[in-house]
Amino acid sequence: MRALFFLASLGFAAAEDGLDGWLRYASLPCSGQCQSKLPANIVVFNATETSPVYVAGSERQAGIQSIYGIQPHISHNQCKSSSSAIVVGTVHQYRKTCGSRDVPELEEDGFWLSTEANRIYILGQMNVGNFSEVSYSTNPSAPIRWVNQWDNIDGRIERGYGGPSIFFKDGAIISDLTRVRQYARLLSSIRINAVVVNNLNANATLLTPANLKGLGRIADTFRPYGVQVGISLNFASPEDLGGLSTFDPLDSSVISWWSNITKHVYQHVPDMAGYLVKADSEGQPGPQTYSRTLSQGANLFGKALQPYGGIVMFRAFVYNQLNESVWTADRANAAVNFFKDLDGEFDENVVVQIKYGPIDFQVREPASPLFANLFNTSTAIELEVTQEYLGQQSHLLYLPPLWKTILDFDLRVDGKPSLVRDVVTGKRFNRKLGGSAAVVNVGTNTTWLGSHLSMSNLYAYGRLAWNPADDAQAMLQDWIRLTFGLDRTVLSTITKMSMDSWPAYEAYSGNLGIQTLTDILYTHYGPNPASQDNNGWGQWTRADHTGIGMDRTVSKGTGFAGQYPSEIAAMYENIDTTPDNLLLWFHHVEYMHSLHSGKSVIQHFYDAHYSGAETVQTFLSQWESLKGKIDDERYEHVLRRLEYQAGHSIVWRDAINNFYYNLSGIPDTAKRVGHHPWRIEAESMQLEGYKAYTINPFETASGSVAIVTAANDTMGTATTQIKFPSGTYDLAVNHYDIDGGQSHWQAYLNDKQIVPGVKVNKGDALKIVGKPDGVEPAPLDYVAFLPDGVVD
Ligand code: GCU
Repeated sequence: MRALFFLASLGFAAAEDGLDGWLRYASLPCSGQCQSKLPANIVVFNATETSPVYVAGSERQAGIQSIYGIQPHISHNQCKSSSSAIVVGTVHQYRKTCGSRDVPELEEDGFWLSTEANRIYILGQMNVGNFSEVSYSTNPSAPIRWVNQWDNIDGRIERGYGGPSIFFKDGAIISDLTRVRQYARLLSSIRINAVVVNNLNANATLLTPANLKGLGRIADTFRPYGVQVGISLNFASPEDLGGLSTFDPLDSSVISWWSNITKHVYQHVPDMAGYLVKADSEGQPGPQTYSRTLSQGANLFGKALQPYGGIVMFRAFVYNQLNESVWTADRANAAVNFFKDLDGEFDENVVVQIKYGPIDFQVREPASPLFANLFNTSTAIELEVTQEYLGQQSHLLYLPPLWKTILDFDLRVDGKPSLVRDVVTGKRFNRKLGGSAAVVNVGTNTTWLGSHLSMSNLYAYGRLAWNPADDAQAMLQDWIRLTFGLDRTVLSTITKMSMDSWPAYEAYSGNLGIQTLTDILYTHYGPNPASQDNNGWGQWTRADHTGIGMDRTVSKGTGFAGQYPSEIAAMYENIDTTPDNLLLWFHHVEYMHSLHSGKSVIQHFYDAHYSGAETVQTFLSQWESLKGKIDDERYEHVLRRLEYQAGHSIVWRDAINNFYYNLSGIPDTAKRVGHHPWRIEAESMQLEGYKAYTINPFETASGSVAIVTAANDTMGTATTQIKFPSGTYDLAVNHYDIDGGQSHWQAYLNDKQIVPGVKVNKGDALKIVGKPDGVEPAPLDYVAFLPDGVVD
C-alpha cells in the first residue's frame, strides 16, 4: 500500500501564501446540525506512527477540525462502536482484526470507500468528503506514478522556477526537512508513489556515505506519506567517485562497484524505488563510450537493483549533435533509431522513460513514435510540470490539454486501437510495469513552483498518473475549488483563463507545429526564432526567404513520418491529411502555402500571434474581476504575473512577426506587423544620459533599437511632445529586464508624475526618467498611448 488520500476542503481562508497548495483545510460555514452529522471517531487499524495509515488518520482528524471546527477522537483497532466513525486501514489489517468482509477486488494502491449505517470505511486506501450513502472503489492505471526533481546537490534546480532546492544545499542534504514533509503531503494526496530527488544530469557525490545517510533522512520523511524515494545516477560514477579506471558496464569491477553501492543505498533506504539514468545524451557519459548498447547499460542497474525490488527508469532522451545542411538529418529520429532494435533486450525491471514528443517538451509535438516501437519493453511517459519552454511559470499555462493530445493519441499499431495512455500503462502490450514520470522542480518558494496558478499542473498530473482518461477541465475545476473555494465566479473565471492558456501560448510562441520559438541555446525563455537553426542541437525549422518547416516525410525528407505505424505514417506523409497544427513539423512549405483553413502560412502566423497576445490581455481583466473573492496575498501575486505576461505576450507577438516578415518579405494583409500608430520609439525621443542601443536579436526591439543609460550609476531622461489627439489613454512603458539589476522608470506629463485618470493633451511634454541598477542600464524600448480597447 502506498498512496494516501486526504480530506479536501472547499472553503475560503484569509491571506494565504500557497504553502498548503490544494490541501488548505479552509473552514466551511457549518451549523450545529452539520457538526452533529460528522463522525465522532476515527478508527485506525494497526498503524505505527511512521505508517501511511497512521498519517491518514491524523490528516483526517486535522482536516475535520480545521474545516468544521470539531475534533474527532482517534482510536485503534476497534471493530465495533456505538458512535459514528471513519474507519481507516488496509483491507488486510481490517480483515485480520475484525474478520471477513466483502471488499471489491483492489490492485496495489487501490482503495475502497463505503458508508454503512454510522460508519465510513476507507480500506486499502483512503479518501472522504461525502457522508451520504456511497460505495466506491478505484485502482491506479499503472504502478509507476513518479515525479522527477532536477535538483543539484549545490541547491540549484535545473529548469526550476520556484527557488532553491528543498533537499540539498552546498553539496549536502538540508538538515531541516520540514519542506520535504510538506511536499510529501501534497504528492501523497494526488497518489504519486515515488520521487526522484536529484537531477538526472547527476553528480556522483550523492553516493558518498554522508549523503546516503542524508538520503535516508529524506526517505524517512516521505515514507509516512506512502511516497518512495529514487535517485538519479551518473554513469561514470565508478570512475569519478570510485576511482576505477573504467565505467564499462560489462567490466566485472564496475558491476561489483554498482552492486556494492546499491547495497549501501538500500541500507539507508530499505524501500528505495529505483534509479533514474540519463546516459549518452547531452554530454552525459554512457555505455556507448565502450561500444556497449543502451540496454547493456540499463541492465547493469537492473541487475544491481533486482535483489531489492527496485526499478530502473532509463531515459529514451538520447541524441547526438547533427549537421543541418544534411537534409535528411533529424534529431526527432534519434529515439527510435537508438531503441527500436533493442526491444526485448531490457531486463524486466527496466522501464524506458520516453518524453511525450520526439524533441523536447515543445508547445506542440506529435506523440513520440517510440511508444509504437517497443512491444517487449516496459515504457513510461515523461511529462514536464515545470514550464521550461512554456513560460517558466511567468506565463499562465494549464498543461493537461496539451498532455491529452499525446495520451489520447491513437498510434494504430497493427491497425488496432493503441492509445498512448494504454501503451504506457502496460495494457496495450501486456506489460506489468509502466506509467508516468513528470519533471516537477518545486523549490523553497511558498508557491512551490513560482506561481500559484501553476499548481493546477502538479495536481492534474497526479490525477492523470492515476487515471490518464480523466478530463482536463474537470480536474482543473476540482483543483480550483480546493485551492480558491466555492465561489462560482472564481470557478468559471479561472476555468476559462486556464483552458484558454495553452492555445494562447501556442498562438503567440509558435504555431502550426513549428515548436516553441524560444531561445533554445541557453535560457529557453522569450522569443528567439533564429536560435532554432544553424546549430547542432537539431530543433530546426529550416526557415529561409522562401519557406519554412521540417520535411519529415519518407519520400523527400528525413523519414521520420515512417517511424509511425502505417496508418499514422500515411497520414503524416501526405500534406493534405496532416493536420494544420502539425503542418510545419512534417512538411517544408512556402510561406504562401494555403492551409486547410484557407489562410496562407505567413498570414496564419501574423493572425495567430495577434490573437494569442490579445487573449492574454483578457486574462488580466478576468483576474481583476476576482478582487475580493480571493485572499489578497494570492490575488496580488497572480496579478503581478498576469500583468507581466500581458506585456511579454506582446513582445513575443512582435518579435515573431517581425522576424518572419523580415525573412519572407510578405506583408501582413491586416497591416499590423511593423505598423504601430500608438507608439513612441524611445530612440526617437530627446535623450539626456540615455543613448541608442541596437538590440540583438533585432526582432526583440520595436524598430530594432532601444535606449540604455550612458553610465550605470547615472539616471537617463527621454522627452518628447505628444502628438496624439487629446484624450485618456492607457500608458505602456516597454522596458527590458536583465538579470542582476532592478532599474526603475518614472513617467511625467508636463513635469508632473503621471497618475491614473490624468487627461493627455496634444502637445503635452512626456518625460521618462530611467534609473539604472546594478548591471541593468534602465533599458527602454518604447512608450505606447493606448486608447480604450487598443493593444498596439
Ligand atoms: C532539456 C533541458 C535540460 C535537460 C534535458 C533532459 O534539454 O533543457 O535541462 O537536462 O532536457 O531532459 O535531459
